Amino acid sequence: MDRPVLYITRRLPPPVLEAIPQQYRLLTTTSDEPPTATELRQGFAEADAVICTLSDCIDASLLSHTTTLKIIANYAVGYNNIDVAAAAQRGIVVSNTPDVLTEATADLTWALLLAASRRVVEGDTWVRAGTWPGWRPTQMLGAAVSGKTLGIIGMGRIGQAVARRAVGFGMPVIYAGHRSIASPLGVTWVRRSLSEVLAGSDFLSLHVPLTEATHHLIGPRELATMKPTAFLINTSRGPVLDEAALVSALHAGTIAGAALDVYEQEPVVSAGLLSLPNVVLLPHLGSATLDTRVRMGLVCLTNIAAVLNGEAAPNQVA
Ligand code: GLV
Ligand code: GLV
Repeated sequence: MDRPVLYITRRLPPPVLEAIPQQYRLLTTTSDEPPTATELRQGFAEADAVICTLSDCIDASLLSHTTTLKIIANYAVGYNNIDVAAAAQRGIVVSNTPDVLTEATADLTWALLLAASRRVVEGDTWVRAGTWPGWRPTQMLGAAVSGKTLGIIGMGRIGQAVARRAVGFGMPVIYAGHRSIASPLGVTWVRRSLSEVLAGSDFLSLHVPLTEATHHLIGPRELATMKPTAFLINTSRGPVLDEAALVSALHAGTIAGAALDVYEQEPVVSAGLLSLPNVVLLPHLGSATLDTRVRMGLVCLTNIAAVLNGEAAPNQVA
C-alpha cells in the first residue's frame, strides 16, 4: 500500500500530532475554524482515514466523494454528526472516543450544577463589577444542593459517572434509561419512568445520545411536570432539549434555573437565554481538558491503525 493518507479536519493538541505514525501522509490544517465544504470534500476524497469533529457534518453526499476512505474516527463520543448508515453502505468504519472523556464530562456537569444552584457566575460578575456592598444575611441566596434528589436521564457511562459523584453530596439518584444499572456499594440508584424522574428531581441532568428518538426529549410538556424549584443541566447534545421551550419555562418560572453546555444551533444561543440571570451558559466544554483531548486523539489513532491493518476498530460504532 502507498503511504496511507490521514486527513484531520481541525487543529488538534500537539501531543496527538506527535503520536501520528511516520508512515502516514498527513493532510491537515493549523486552523481552529471548521473546514469549508470544498476543503472537507477534498480531504475526504483523498483520505484513507479521517479524524473529524462533532461540528463537521459527514453526510451521504460528502461520502459519495470518497474512494479510498476506510475509517472515519470521530473526535467525540457522540456521533450524531455522521450518517453512519451511509458510511456502512460504503464499507467505511465509524469509530468514536468513549470512556476517555467520561470523567471530564461528569466533572463539568457538576460544575454547572453547582454554578447554577449557588449563583457562582452571577456572584463573580457582581464582584468584578465593583459594586458588591459586602456580606448581607439575605444576599444572593441560592438553592441547597446536598441531600437533594438528582435525576439522570440516560444512565450510560457519563450518566453513571455523574451519579457516582452524588454520593459525596448525600444525594439520592433516580434515573430513566433503557436498562437497570447496578448501584455501587452503599448507595441506591433507583430506576423510574421518565415522568417520575421529571417530577421527582431537584436537579435533572441529561446524558442521552442525540438520535431521532431523543430529539426534543425534553419539551414544553416535560418541563411543565418538573418542580418549580428544579434545575435542568444539559451536557449531552443541544437538540435533546427544546431550547425555545426552555426559554419560555425559565421566563414563566416553571423551573428555577438551567445550566447548559450544548445548544440546538451551536454556536448560536437563543437570545432569550442570554438575558436570564438564572442560567449558566458554557461553550461546549464537556471534554475540554488537555489530558482528555489528548486521550481522545490517541483513541482515534488507535482505531485508525487497527482498520488500516485490516483489524477491527476497538471503538467501532457502525
Ligand atoms: C462531545 O460533545 C463529545 O461527544 O465528545
Ligand atoms: C459566613 O461567611 C459565615 O462565617 O457564616
